Amino acid sequence: MNNLLTDLEHRNAALEQKVKDLTEQINQKDRILEENQTEFNRLKDHLVQMEKMAMLGQMVSGISHEINNPINFIYGNLPYVEEHIEAVLKVLETYQSVYPSKNPALENVLEETEIDFVLEDLPRLVESMKVGAERIRELVLNLRNFYRLDEAQMKEADLNAGIESTLVMLHNRYKQKIEVIKQFGDLPPVECHINQLNQVFMNLLGNAIDALLVKELQCCEENNKTSVSDKKKIAITTQKIAEDKVSITISDNGLGISAEVKNRVFEPFFTTKPIGVGTGLGLSISHQIVTQTHGGKIYCFSTPGEGSTFVVELPIHQSQKLAPEKLTETSNHLSMAKKN
Ligand SMILES: Nc1ncnc2c1ncn2[C@@H]1O[C@H](COP(=O)(O)OP(=O)(O)OP(=O)(O)O)[C@@H](O)[C@H]1O
Ligand SMILES: [Mg+2]
Repeated sequence: MNNLLTDLEHRNAALEQKVKDLTEQINQKDRILEENQTEFNRLKDHLVQMEKMAMLGQMVSGISHEINNPINFIYGNLPYVEEHIEAVLKVLETYQSVYPSKNPALENVLEETEIDFVLEDLPRLVESMKVGAERIRELVLNLRNFYRLDEAQMKEADLNAGIESTLVMLHNRYKQKIEVIKQFGDLPPVECHINQLNQVFMNLLGNAIDALLVKELQCCEENNKTSVSDKKKIAITTQKIAEDKVSITISDNGLGISAEVKNRVFEPFFTTKPIGVGTGLGLSISHQIVTQTHGGKIYCFSTPGEGSTFVVELPIHQSQKLAPEKLTETSNHLSMAKKN
């Protein structure tokens, strides 16, 4: 009898263990299912997003192509308009000095048309038309580049030299106002479209300069001072970070980026700058150039009020493209960025 009881107890314990194991297995399967479902939803959202971007891309490249021709007529002809206006003004001035008018009808017309103001204002109008046409041209060029990034062949290039030449182009915007600290590492030649990467450096450095100048403006308004005590700085560091990749880090001690804005900085047309100042394309173009065209990665870290850091990682050879950015990695990086 005792034996039977012990046997039953053993069997019972074994059965309980089996039920426990099975429940654990079911729970584990549920967890896997849930994870798969989440991953599936994420991939689905990503696909929808990509499809939207592709459609937007087709539309944008079509429209920008259509705008490109007429704006080139305007832009190309404005220097001649300027020359012709100068010639007409010269003739008018000469007429006025050679034949100072005593004719009342002519005097009336001169007065009615406010000719002195017209003569003074005309060159200013042409100048502002030139600035406007230039802006449209740049915008169209950016839009076209956004969706036509992989045309020419890649070549080996010196990224430090690329950054130097970008700094030369930006010199007017930061000279005497911002200290640029260069910490250039010994980089091997990198297989890339250097023009496109220069565009990335230009966007990142341009944003850093904007953030520093806006911060200064805000501080001056708040404290009614002419300058801020913090020295405005941009640090550029380049280094070989692994056998097959290099990184470029651009930091500023400007405005910084709030967590809310940080989640959207790479979105096309997202800008916090006033209308007419920012198009909101700089970082989305840069993201596309770095990740899609070069198989690299771009990260954004920031402490609001203290500054921002953008890191670009690039493979040295295109055969060593960095693993495509996974959604999980992006969210990791975002949460890392939020912590910072
Ligand atoms: N270094 C930075 N410091 C603070 N904010 C930044 C920085 N870089 C980017 N941002 C934020 O990200 C937004 C998007 O940047 P992005 O370069 O894409 O567009 P933009 O600078 O506004 O316009 P565009 O570059 O087309 O002239 C900016 O409006 C700004 O709010
Ligand atoms: Mg920008």
